[in-house]
Amino acid sequence: MKFKKNILCIGAGYVGGPTMAMIASKCPDYRVTVVDINPERINAWNSHDLPVYEPGLDKIIKKTRGKNLFFSNNIEKAITENDIIFVSVHTPTKTFGEGAGKAPDLQYWEKTARQILENSKSSKIVIEKSTLPVKTAAAMEKILAPAKGKIKFEVLSNPEFLAEGTAIKDLENPDRVLIGSRDTKNGLKARQELVNIYSRWVPKEKIITTNIWSSELSKLVSNAFLAQRVSSINSISALCEKTEADVSEVAKAVGMDSRIGSKFLQAGIGFGGSCFKKDILHLAYLCEYYGLPEVAAYWESVVKMNEYQQQRFITNILGSMFNTLAGKRICVFGFAFKANTGDTRESPATYITRKLLAEQALVTISDPKALKNAALDLADIDENVKYEEDPYKAVAGCHAIAILTDWNIYRNLDFRKIYKSMIKPAFLFDGRNIVDHAKCFKIGFNVYPIGKPAMSHFKTTQKANSNSR
Ligand SMILES: NC(=O)c1ccc[n+]([C@@H]2O[C@H](COP(=O)([O-])OP(=O)(O)OC[C@H]3O[C@@H](n4cnc5c(N)ncnc54)[C@H](O)[C@@H]3O)[C@@H](O)[C@H]2O)c1
Repeated sequence: MKFKKNILCIGAGYVGGPTMAMIASKCPDYRVTVVDINPERINAWNSHDLPVYEPGLDKIIKKTRGKNLFFSNNIEKAITENDIIFVSVHTPTKTFGEGAGKAPDLQYWEKTARQILENSKSSKIVIEKSTLPVKTAAAMEKILAPAKGKIKFEVLSNPEFLAEGTAIKDLENPDRVLIGSRDTKNGLKARQELVNIYSRWVPKEKIITTNIWSSELSKLVSNAFLAQRVSSINSISALCEKTEADVSEVAKAVGMDSRIGSKFLQAGIGFGGSCFKKDILHLAYLCEYYGLPEVAAYWESVVKMNEYQQQRFITNILGSMFNTLAGKRICVFGFAFKANTGDTRESPATYITRKLLAEQALVTISDPKALKNAALDLADIDENVKYEEDPYKAVAGCHAIAILTDWNIYRNLDFRKIYKSMIKPAFLFDGRNIVDHAKCFKIGFNVYPIGKPAMSHFKTTQKANSNSR
């Protein structure tokens, strides 16, 4: 079959795979290829066991794979054959040299740019899909500038706003699609090409076009604002625990103000995932680079508050359980950084589990989708950790439960049955405020929510949530 357009995506990760599957599904007359340097990832995309869990993804892959969606390792050939290239490689935080722990590590992105230059035999539109610091397109243009003869590259910015766990829904019905371009004849022409692809299914008014720098910066700022809301409500949860206010009631009252809105006001053990922390740190680094230390410090405090919230959770567990966890079995409900994903990157569960193990607790981890990744994350410590998908089996014989991910299944467990199978006194630390605390307290649990009064059966004046230590 002859296809109208040939589209390539370099990077077959959480973004590259699902976004290209959506384009292939909405544009059956386009041939979409996704390549990656990691052969295992490509093999997984070509198998029944996809490398990414997302509700609805398997259905779209089944519909398109082998018809107009192809996963391949042959990056060079794919670059030669395609004229529209999305770059969706990862952009982690640098772990070495200048800016370590703050600046983005752009080596994967730069290697890709050079590879595009080396293997191009015709002009191409190169689209930044990865989240990149503002002004990266200028660097990309410089790398692509030595192109031979009549070959020209037009660089666009088209950041991805999907959220893991709801990726397919977000891609199918996005709040907006953002496309940044140069304001030149060729820039505007390239931009129109991309607008034409998205207009196949996204209403025109939701496709916004801006200058390239605004587009690059908007993605970092969106993530920074979302994370900032989480840290704001979490900071208030600490105050609630000191004052007998209830953070859910406060969040509801505050969120009903239409100027504020109710989303992202759920107190808990903090945000995780591969993006929020790194994007805020990259934003802060940019601010420092441009001589704005006050702005950098403001955004860095969002990450600090997130870390504080996780530390507080551990301190609370320790204080409530008589200041020793040594030899006690703690059941962790949920290891993914949020519900409906198997992704554990930067999950608060990693930090909390490691702290529990440092206190010599014995930890059993339960999660419906993330156990494989959890075992990889904790590969350096196989002692004292067990993995069990079934929450009822996982919790039997434990002293405490720590709910770390807001998976729906944990809301509706039979806590009476669970309580019976645990060692008494049984403790429940709800790091996501998702279970019925009053009901669990009635069953017999000592219940410790976030930002609400603790419910303890002990007669002593143990004020667990007040962190009196
Ligand atoms: N995960 C999210 O929810 C999300 C949402 C929006 C934006 N983003 C951004 O999208 C980008 C990708 O994120 P991700 O979560 O998909 O990352 P990921 O790590 O899941 O995938 C990146 C892929 O790129 C591949 N890769 C690296 N260098 C390559 C090269 N030179 N050639 C070919 N392949 C190469 C890696 O092997 C990996 O499979 C990041 O910049 C991220 O910030 C992520």
